[in-house]
Amino acid sequence: MSMKNGAIWITGASSGIGRETAIKFLRNGYFVAASARRKELLTSLQQFTDDKNESRLLPIDLDISDFEAVNKTADKINRAENVSCLINNAGITTFSPAIENTNEEVKQIIDINLSGSIFAIQAVLPAMIKHGKGTIINIISVAADKVFTNSSVYSASKAGLLAYANVLREEVREHNIKVINVLPGATKTPIWPNEQLEKFSERMMSPADIAKLLFDFYETEGSLVPEEVTIRPIKGDI
Ligand SMILES: NC(=O)c1ccc[n+]([C@@H]2O[C@H](COP(=O)([O-])OP(=O)(O)OC[C@H]3O[C@@H](n4cnc5c(N)ncnc54)[C@H](OP(=O)(O)O)[C@@H]3O)[C@@H](O)[C@H]2O)c1
Repeated sequence: MSMKNGAIWITGASSGIGRETAIKFLRNGYFVAASARRKELLTSLQQFTDDKNESRLLPIDLDISDFEAVNKTADKINRAENVSCLINNAGITTFSPAIENTNEEVKQIIDINLSGSIFAIQAVLPAMIKHGKGTIINIISVAADKVFTNSSVYSASKAGLLAYANVLREEVREHNIKVINVLPGATKTPIWPNEQLEKFSERMMSPADIAKLLFDFYETEGSLVPEEVTIRPIKGDI
């Protein structure tokens, strides 16, 4: 299979939606820069490429909340292959009432979900503007605009990213940069505690199905861009 043009940078590619998305793009001939903190899980993505020399997979050990490291990562990927698509997927949550949130918990969720996503966008934008094209896909959540108790900080981080990306879209339209906000509902991944997975996993969406949709959004050509897409399990929220 010949390699397709441009790098797809997927943050949080070691698990769940990010991992399935990396697999989908690798299987379809793309160069994938896969970042997360657990590098051994990224390296294992090599089995999903058709080449055996690692040329289409760039695994990168990265804490997305580290501004300097995010910039170095973007430079590293751009040296290998221009970033044509950033998939801002790295994210964490906790499930606890607002009154119980610790300072550390608040800081971590905002630093990773909101600041980290903004850092990655800032790091790829100059080259995208220079090349006159690019795609930024933000994995947000239905929690950005629907109330789920015990998820106040998570919801704030996702609503913040949604607001940021809506402004960004208007600023970069003229450069032919597409900003796609995806708001998934419950998806069967390790972000959920085991107890919730045991109870509800039958009703949750599959991360591979989400990955297929993200892939289709990226590959969609022509005169349109899906700007904001909410995806729910067929039987609704859990
Ligand atoms: N699952 C759902 O129901 C659901 C619904 C709506 C939205 N989402 C969103 O989907 C995205 C992916 O979540 P998931 O469900 O696939 O969960 P997951 O399986 O737990 O994956 C989370 C990913 O984020 C990475 N990550 C966490 N902290 C990081 C950090 N400091 N630096 C870099 N990477 C970090 C993890 O990698 P390392 O630990 O290796 O760093 C992992 O690859 C998240 O943004 C989440 O909010 C999920």
